[in-house]
Amino acid sequence: MLGQLLLAASGSGLVRRAVSGFPLTRKVVERFVAGETAGEARAAVERLRDAGLAVTIDHLGEETRDARAAEATADAYIRLLEALRPLELGSTGEVSVKLSAVGQRLDETMALEHAREICAAAAANGSPVTLDMEDHTTVDSTLGILRKLRDDYPSTGVAIQAYLFRSEEDCRDLAAEGSRVRLVKGAYREPSSVAHQGKTAVDKAYVRCLRILMAGKGYPMVATHDDRMIAITELLADRYGRTIGDHEFQMLYGIRTDRQEALAGAGHTVRVYVPYGDDWYGYFMRRLAERPANVAFFLRALGGK
Ligand code: FDA
Repeated sequence: MLGQLLLAASGSGLVRRAVSGFPLTRKVVERFVAGETAGEARAAVERLRDAGLAVTIDHLGEETRDARAAEATADAYIRLLEALRPLELGSTGEVSVKLSAVGQRLDETMALEHAREICAAAAANGSPVTLDMEDHTTVDSTLGILRKLRDDYPSTGVAIQAYLFRSEEDCRDLAAEGSRVRLVKGAYREPSSVAHQGKTAVDKAYVRCLRILMAGKGYPMVATHDDRMIAITELLADRYGRTIGDHEFQMLYGIRTDRQEALAGAGHTVRVYVPYGDDWYGYFMRRLAERPANVAFFLRALGGK
């Protein structure tokens, strides 16, 4: 219930202005967001690298229908990738892109061109790009753009949301040689006509999708903080003869850092999703919605405790 309210608030301009106005909000946001500038993102990436973790970096921004804002987002990614180049991160330094932030709702061709520019800058670092998945109305368009990008940049990956009814079929289509699929439970408020509702149904759907990806020939990126899903991944890896380097785990910046480091210490590739930028509101509200304990943390900090 609280989660649903927070997800609704994540799309509200009024609540955005109220929450952003609190002076202490920034202190709390820092737990989940690596900073506002490319320099701060780079510093966070260096800390994670030194702890043995790979990264995927997200320049925060939500949907835009303004061509200049879309171009500014693409430029921000290109500048970020230039700033990261001296670190020589290669495949451990990828970026994640929300197509709606580079104009997907305004003009799909424009979004594809911006995504291509970002892929080219990432390729110059030897790094791949993964497309985030947003609400269900964008899935066909995102998968269409993925196919076009993969013609020139075959390592481009995509997030698939287990809660959508369609996702088992999408996983089957994508479980082929060379494809990189990040499996997530799904973070948007979706109607019961398109998505499983409630944790049990979503967890079961996650396991079905996971089985398809682990049995397939692609590179599964298991993005979850859920110990049960991590344990099931390890069982499936045994069953399908996968070794430690042919799949990876992913978690969000600031969430279960002890678990991230323990998995990396056991030899797994663990990639941390590192968001940065000043447009943190939608991302931050989705993280609060996922876990009531995070709301308590937020309220305590607002109270100065
Ligand atoms: P679940 O929410 O069931 O949580 C399981 C356990 O993990 C909890 O009991 C708790 O212990 C811990 N936990 C989970 N969330 C926490 C939090 N916020 N704070 C503290 N502990 C927490 N979604 C999407 O729709 N499109 C996308 O492109 C992406 N991309 C993406 C990348 C990466 C790397 C990750 C890890 C996640 C995403 N997501 C996403 C978000 C995803 O859909 C989902 O909302 C969150 O990962 C939470 O789901 P869990 O699998 O962690 O399980």
